[in-house]
Amino acid sequence: MKISSPSILDSIWFKLRKGDYVSGEDLARELDVSKVAIWKAIRKLEKLGYKVEKARRLGYRLLYQPNLPHPWRIRERLGTKLIGRRFIYYKELDSTQRVAKELAEVEKEGLVIIAEKQRRGRGRLGRIWLSSVDDLKMSIVLKPSNLHPVKLGLFSLIGGLAVAKALKNLDVKLKWPNDVLLNGRKVAGILVEGKVEADKISYVVLGIGINVNSKKRNLRGINATSIYDVLNEKQDLAELTAKVLNELDLLYMKIGDEARILREVKERLGTIGKLVKVIGLDEEFKGKAIDIDENGFLLVDVNGSVRKVLAGDVIHLKETA
Ligand code: BTN
Repeated sequence: MKISSPSILDSIWFKLRKGDYVSGEDLARELDVSKVAIWKAIRKLEKLGYKVEKARRLGYRLLYQPNLPHPWRIRERLGTKLIGRRFIYYKELDSTQRVAKELAEVEKEGLVIIAEKQRRGRGRLGRIWLSSVDDLKMSIVLKPSNLHPVKLGLFSLIGGLAVAKALKNLDVKLKWPNDVLLNGRKVAGILVEGKVEADKISYVVLGIGINVNSKKRNLRGINATSIYDVLNEKQDLAELTAKVLNELDLLYMKIGDEARILREVKERLGTIGKLVKVIGLDEEFKGKAIDIDENGFLLVDVNGSVRKVLAGDVIHLKETA
């Protein structure tokens, strides 16, 4: 099942959300649709996990809402200028990145694709990304105008920074280029894919996966965690999604003033000052991570000469003086 938002579901949920009875006639009149259309929409809400009571003379009443990142529940808390002007929510799909990339060709920027269940989540460097319904999986379509393709790497940092800011009460650090660490373990990953034509960015698809309410077991040497693992408390998925999108929107508006973004990234970038092992696309070396440049590339001091890391994996070895 696939739900586009805004739609009649947003409006019905909005009228029912307080838990009072609302008659089918009133809903139909106010939303200017038939009573059958209202009934069908209520059936959809039920399929999405809501419990709705139907009382003969009183109408509909919302009894239960699932803890899922449904667009209307996100919208209620959204204060963005651009991101989230349209959502598409899938109960199940292969990968939000795949859908977002297809739609990026025809849609305006700001579209957010959210999956309840993702069968073939993709990570960086061809890896798989495992998640459950209790985690967040979303991809955002952006179309930055007048931005040179060399700046594409900034989006990983911006995505990570948005997650870190949304989790501001927790001990969150960024690991170059795309990991968000909670208490030193991976809690979220960012996947940036884009299309470049004639030296211009046509679109960027920013994929964000956050381990929220699932229990994480370490997998293939990845030291993973979830917010639930740390706090032992379930988070509201819609609320957290809105927080991330609100932060992301603010950061996206600041593109063009990268210095400000980079300053905020550096404050949280645990990689700087560490002895690191860089596993590049066709080389490996060790050195001390000293900074990131204006395009977000990592600068590593290798025996006194500075090397710029454009892509690849970085392993934190230990703190250095
Ligand atoms: C990584 O750390 O390697 C990046 C992981 C990115 C995972 C997210 S989940 C939502 C979006 N859809 C995908 O298939 N991948 C990204």
